[in-house]
Amino acid sequence: MVIAQRVAASARAREALPSPIRKLTPLAEAAKARGIKVYHLNIGQPDITTPDALMAGIREFRSDLLPYAPSQGLPETVAAWQEYYAQLGVEFERDQLVVTTGGSEALLFAMMAVADPGDEIITFEPSYANYFGFARMTSVQIVPVTLDAGSGYHLPDASDIESRITGRTRALLFTTPGNPTGTVFSYAELEVLGDLARRHGLFLISDETYREIVFEGDRTMSMMKVAAARDRTIVVDSVSKRFSATGARIGCLASHHPGVMEGVLRFAQARLASPTVEQRGLVPLLRNSATYTDPLAAEYRRRRDVVYGELLTIPGVQVSKPEGAFYLFAVLPIDDGERFASWLLSDFQLDGETLMIAPGDGFYCSPGLGKQEVRFAYVLQERDLTRAMTILREALRVYPGSKREDVS
Ligand SMILES: Cc1ncc(COP(=O)(O)O)c(C=O)c1O
Repeated sequence: MVIAQRVAASARAREALPSPIRKLTPLAEAAKARGIKVYHLNIGQPDITTPDALMAGIREFRSDLLPYAPSQGLPETVAAWQEYYAQLGVEFERDQLVVTTGGSEALLFAMMAVADPGDEIITFEPSYANYFGFARMTSVQIVPVTLDAGSGYHLPDASDIESRITGRTRALLFTTPGNPTGTVFSYAELEVLGDLARRHGLFLISDETYREIVFEGDRTMSMMKVAAARDRTIVVDSVSKRFSATGARIGCLASHHPGVMEGVLRFAQARLASPTVEQRGLVPLLRNSATYTDPLAAEYRRRRDVVYGELLTIPGVQVSKPEGAFYLFAVLPIDDGERFASWLLSDFQLDGETLMIAPGDGFYCSPGLGKQEVRFAYVLQERDLTRAMTILREALRVYPGSKREDVS
């Protein structure tokens, strides 16, 4: 007789992290069911129209068969990424690129290619929250270095980073332009990271998902251009934000490190391929990216100016000017960002309208940090952003957990 054994999910499955950004969604749905209009500033889903060149490429795909693409990527897409990087001033051989299923897969591949279970990767918090989730999936330890709102979330002294390096540290992982901060690291900062990596034998995983969405100066900045760190840099790239094409699920991993690229190609072979039609459709965009990203960056810059300008006039709000991406991370005069975000959806409205924001603590790995911070994603038209800021101003005036000195 066979006795049924209980089966339990793995510790990895049990400990997987839920998305901190989506957990307020049921409250937003409930608000909408009550007839309240919700301005969504909570997620990084661009509203700007996807370039017609991509949509036309998808529509015009004619074939009786939808086949797998090669694991590395369609030859024309790999060539288009090569051309894209050459235009930025960085040369890659064909075997130094793998097309991935979004930047997300590139991140997962990069972490798996540099770190074994129990190894450590240093990152900067506030950080893209899914880094913590990917670290759980790969059994890698994230070691956070906390950035300071007062310095606009720029890097601290090299010694503060160095003090977190141990015998198990394998890489420095960072995003520039930053999510959730909108901070763009300068070349001087990238050189500091490159120097640390060289001296301590570390990889650099440079998440450049928001490259080209930069408001001042060089829009094509990249860790790849720091020559001294070229041998150890792994670039995580994506078309999602740059071309307003999150649903295409196409990204890229690029590195001059042969061992990393051999491993990454084997990972790619195991998952077979990335989407065929979207890869093909993206070729003209990659070949000519500035045509699409110039107006896109200008639009986000105008929106940045609206949100930043409005926040500056709200008492008690501490805000630094975002330099890129489409996020703004602000310190609000509140007791707790999650409580405030929930209250906005459940208990507040201004003439039938409210807003949804992302609580700041989900972007920190250190417990207790980010309680007064929130992230705004300015993925709405200027008029709606202005209205959302009016709603926020009024909400902060009446919020029961307000820490504003002028509120009784
Ligand atoms: C910093 C950062 N990296 C990577 C990603 C992953 O994007 P995707 O998988 O759509 O390319 C995102 C998405 O929001 C992001 O903000």
